[in-house]
Amino acid sequence: MVYLTWWLLAYLCGAFPFGLLIGQVFCKVDPRQHGSKNIGATNVCRVCGLKYGLLVLGLDLLKGFLPVFVGSFISNSPWFLSLTALAAVSGHMFSVFLYGKGGKGVATTVGVCLALFPKILLIGLIFFVFAVWITGYISVGSIFLVTVLPMLLLFSEKISYMPLTLVLGGLVILKHKANIERLIAGTEKSWRKK
Ligand code: G3P
Repeated sequence: MVYLTWWLLAYLCGAFPFGLLIGQVFCKVDPRQHGSKNIGATNVCRVCGLKYGLLVLGLDLLKGFLPVFVGSFISNSPWFLSLTALAAVSGHMFSVFLYGKGGKGVATTVGVCLALFPKILLIGLIFFVFAVWITGYISVGSIFLVTVLPMLLLFSEKISYMPLTLVLGGLVILKHKANIERLIAGTEKSWRKK
């Protein structure tokens, strides 16, 4: 019962749409109507500016980090923490406050990974920066990040979190369907040209 309650709390925490709130309150814009129409940090940055984008990035990351970090005081079992992480990221992607819609889950995934395996995440983020630097697309970096994480875990003592990263990676890639279509069509927005 404690576990179920915690997973529900983790889902509700992840479901809070900070991107939408910050867009509407601070720059009077609904990010769902502009740019990529996503409520994530990248689109808030695109639509409202870097300051608000970074704020959303931090808050969306915390939505993933906190439930897993605090949850580790309830149990350190990898399956309990994996399901807590999945609940938080699913909350962001399929928010009850947005009638089942939501963001792409990258920042929240980074938050859960920060709580579970910070060193491996850091290596993954190096791949992310490299992919964004080479291609100019945040979406390519995000897809690259979630693809390399399970591979990095395979060679680490945190291998028990590999199933989690495979599921999260699959969900994040599915959520990037429109980005992948735009990349193929050559219409994806690069961060290099404004
Ligand atoms: O983190 C989401 C990013 O990978 C893509 O965002 O707004 O360009 O679809 P966006």
